[in-house]
Formats: sequence, C-alpha cells, structure tokens
Amino acid sequence: MSKKLPRVLAISGLLALAPVLAMAMGSHQPKDIDFEAANARIQPLAKVKLAPPAAASSVARGSRSGEDLYKAVCGACHTAGVAGAPKTGDKAAWAPRIAFGLAALTKTSITGKGAMPPKGGSDATDEELVRAIAFMANQAGANFKAPAAK
Ligand code: HEC
Repeated sequence: MSKKLPRVLAISGLLALAPVLAMAMGSHQPKDIDFEAANARIQPLAKVKLAPPAAASSVARGSRSGEDLYKAVCGACHTAGVAGAPKTGDKAAWAPRIAFGLAALTKTSITGKGAMPPKGGSDATDEELVRAIAFMANQAGANFKAPAAK
C-alpha cells in the first residue's frame, strides 16, 4: 500500500463531510416552512374549479373508457362533490339527473353547467364523455349503456 493513500483517504473524507460541516455551521439553514405554499399544495381540490385538470391519461384521445376519463378528469370534482358536483354513487344527487336520460346529460356535459366547465375542462370526445357519464351515473343506480371503448 502506498504511503500516500491514507492521506488521500483522509482528505477525500473531509471533502465528503464538507456539506455536512457547512450545514452544522449554519450556512445552509433550511428556510422556515412556507405555510402558505404548503397550504396551496394540499388544497388542489379547492382550486380545481378555477383550473380544471387537463385530461392526463396514457390512453389515446378517443379511446379512453369511461373509467379512464373519470379517473383522469371527472373524479377531481365528482368523487368528493367539489363545487356542488353530484357525488359519484350518491343516489339522491343523481336520481333527478338520471331521469333526464343519457342524451340530455351528455348535452349538458358538453356545454357545461353551473360550476362544471364544458366537458369538465377536458379534451374528451363526445363518445368518451358518454362513457364517462354512464360510468358515473351507473354507480348511482342508472343503467345507461354507452358505446364501448375501441
Ligand atoms: C371542475 C369540476 C368538475 C369536473 C372536472 C367535472 N364536473 Fe361534472 N359537474 C360539476 C358540477 C359542479 C356539476 C353540477 C352542475 C349543476 O347542476 O349546476 C356537475 C354536473 C355533472 C353532470 C350532471 C349534469 C346535469 O344536467 O345535471 C354530469 C352528467 C357530469 N357533471 C358529468 C361529468 C363528466 C362526465 C366529467 C368528466 C369528463 C365531469 N362531469 C367533470 C363539476 C365538474
């Protein structure tokens, strides 16, 4: 073993410790927690009304199943009932809407209604929308048949 090796090891050891030492000496103090920013991060649902989610799905546009679209877009509001959205599975909230029929619900979903932006803010095709509506309404007692995903 070379005589130099222990010294090289000692120096590289110090170098490796440098950030830790610097932190211990106070030059890298973490900033105070920014509660406002943290709050903003944990309240995406409250923001969703202003910025509807873009359809982020790995499935190509036009081929998404009702469940795909629901998970990527509609669920952001309908799972928790954000902004007065009829909650998925809530029969009381859905019964009067189911009574409109699938065609009428598709129409209002395309144009938007109240706090719901057109197509829920998504780039869904009409057929994908029909599938998503059926997927949602059927969980609240409807028996809608939508064209299957291709
Ligand atoms: C930004 C929140 C939001 C998103 C995203 C959203 N909705 Fe809605 N949706 C609402 C709200 C709020 C209502 C209630 C509107 C009202 O009755 O005034 C609603 C109502 C509906 C209704 C009932 C319409 C009627 O005539 O009463 C259907 C059907 C519907 N949404 C389908 C969907 C589908 C399908 C998606 C996904 C492509 C979706 N929504 C995404 C907020 C949303």
